Amino acid sequence: MMDLNDVAALVTGGGSGMGAVTARVLAERGARVVVLDVNLENAQHTAESIGGFAVSADVSNGPSVEAALQSAIDEVGVPRVVVSCAGIAPASRIVGRDGPHDLDLYQQVINVNLVGTFNVLRLAAARMTGLDPVSDSGSRGVIVNTASVAAYEGQIGQAAYSASKGGVVALTLPAARELARFGIRVMTIAPGLIGTPMLLNMPDEVQQSLAGQVPFPQRFGEPQEYGQLVLHIVDNEMLNGEVIRLDGAIRLQPK
Ligand SMILES: NC(=O)c1ccc[n+]([C@@H]2O[C@H](COP(=O)([O-])OP(=O)(O)OC[C@H]3O[C@@H](n4cnc5c(N)ncnc54)[C@H](O)[C@@H]3O)[C@@H](O)[C@H]2O)c1
Repeated sequence: MMDLNDVAALVTGGGSGMGAVTARVLAERGARVVVLDVNLENAQHTAESIGGFAVSADVSNGPSVEAALQSAIDEVGVPRVVVSCAGIAPASRIVGRDGPHDLDLYQQVINVNLVGTFNVLRLAAARMTGLDPVSDSGSRGVIVNTASVAAYEGQIGQAAYSASKGGVVALTLPAARELARFGIRVMTIAPGLIGTPMLLNMPDEVQQSLAGQVPFPQRFGEPQEYGQLVLHIVDNEMLNGEVIRLDGAIRLQPK
């Protein structure tokens, strides 16, 4: 088990949902957690509840994340654990009632979910390379990204979201291969249906139809179950370059 006492950790999207819970479980293991979110108020709320530090940044913006990472480093040191949870999931059909999919919306989803994940990964990894190794194998740190089962079975209305998450899945292996020489691991979690504001803000009938599609356990996953998987990935050095589905065996239907 990796000793996380006083280890610096960065969680993006930490103002809500899986990011907020992940920040908490890392803090409970003794990590010094920086909570990054575009919503500073929510980031501060999480940070205050876990004794962490809040920074505001838009993950899709290079200078914004660079500045946030620097203030995080000034506060807690260079993160050895980085978890990317920031994401958005607007639904839109390719050809809907009002015409073709809005191109700006498509680009925004790709920017936040895919470019944002890569932006955090590249900047965090560059700083991690300067850290001392902490295990016999020469481990310097671990980066955990968040995709979705929609990367594999996107539903109608998820063209942008699925494409963005498919990109996160595809990024995992080349990133792990490239960063291996620095002792930096890269893993991705592909959640199914997790009970966070992203899902719980959907209409009731959509939620019921979705929950009914999970073979077992027939319920939404808990954000805590995502947090536990992050901790396992941090602790288990052999996990690298892989995507783990966390989904109760769901295979999403077209709609
Ligand atoms: N909830 C689910 O069922 C589910 C399933 C599969 C994948 N996911 C993915 O898991 C991740 C976490 O989702 P969640 O359910 O906890 O959602 P959430 O909406 O509760 O939290 C997402 C957080 O990301 C932040 N964020 C959004 N855009 C940002 C940006 N540009 N820069 C910085 N922060 C930004 C939001 O402010 C919010 O605090 C997302 O990437 C989501 O796509 C969620």
